[in-house]
Amino acid sequence: MEVERVQAIVSSSLTKDNIPIEFIRPEDEQPAITTFHGPIPDIPVVDFSDPDQGNVIRSMADASRDWGIFQVVNHGIPFDLIQRLQLVGKEFFDLPQEEKEVYAKPHGAPSIEGYGSKLGRDVNGKKNWADHLFHRIWPPACINYQFWPRNPPSYREVNEEYAQEVRKVVDKLFKWLSVGLGLEPDVLKQGAGGEEIEYLMKINYYPPCPRPDLTLGVASHTDLSAMTVLVPNEVPGLQVLKDGVWIDAKYIPGALIIHIGDQIEILSNGKYKAVQHRTTVDKEKTRMSWPIFLEPPAEFVVGPLAQLVDPQEPPKYKPKKFKDYSYCKLNKLPQ
Ligand code: OGA
Ligand code: NI
Repeated sequence: MEVERVQAIVSSSLTKDNIPIEFIRPEDEQPAITTFHGPIPDIPVVDFSDPDQGNVIRSMADASRDWGIFQVVNHGIPFDLIQRLQLVGKEFFDLPQEEKEVYAKPHGAPSIEGYGSKLGRDVNGKKNWADHLFHRIWPPACINYQFWPRNPPSYREVNEEYAQEVRKVVDKLFKWLSVGLGLEPDVLKQGAGGEEIEYLMKINYYPPCPRPDLTLGVASHTDLSAMTVLVPNEVPGLQVLKDGVWIDAKYIPGALIIHIGDQIEILSNGKYKAVQHRTTVDKEKTRMSWPIFLEPPAEFVVGPLAQLVDPQEPPKYKPKKFKDYSYCKLNKLPQ
């Protein structure tokens, strides 16, 4: 079965101000109607170069409790490497359609890896204005190079270098988020799979859209992951739901956007919140983003940490294998 890519729809069949009906969101989701414009605080920014480590830990913990998302600056990943990561990703999506299809997610494959567009539609029958590429980048035992573009030729080297750098940042994030809960530094990372945590890279490609007021790149969701580390390009589009309103994330060149995902919410017994977020698209420009989802191995059981549960604070979530949690979430079944 031929799957139609959003990028291909855009380059072929669009008239000036029409989009296919399956991309038009109901009014209560349309960005033009539901985006908040007014005085509102920005997503918190955490500066890793702050010499006061207590301050870094406190601001991360506060952001994870009140927002479920924060941006990190001075994280130590060279800006030049982030730019190279973006360039090789853009070069892949600029390839002719048939060359990208070589990496298509095989039909019916159990893994999410490969090039594609969201299969199926969501509850209200709508599609996302986006294509994507998924492939794991760490640990080595779970890498399938068949889904890594061979063109541009430096794609592999750049992604391997980025994986090494991002691991150092992830270790700090887990450590400081643990300490922020009053726990030993290694508890959260161990609770999410330790050295076996899988780094799933996704590239989101959001082509220009003649009616950005009516559609969404990705509809509202929380990430399944423990945590997500995202690099955006310069085209704004990420929005977060805060106190009942949708607000735009500010673009900070070189910053990493850290999302608390479902598994950290569960481990922390609800002390840290998975952020509800979505993306809008642009009329003229292509938006791209590079999230890495940090996921427990399929068979690994995640539940509230024993240290955070007592008679006053009973567990709010059931311990579950990550694969069972994912299955229920993707199929919209109760957990
Ligand atoms: C996602 C996502 C946000 C973005 O892919 O899960 O939320 O900024 N992406 O593209
Ligand atoms: Ni997301």
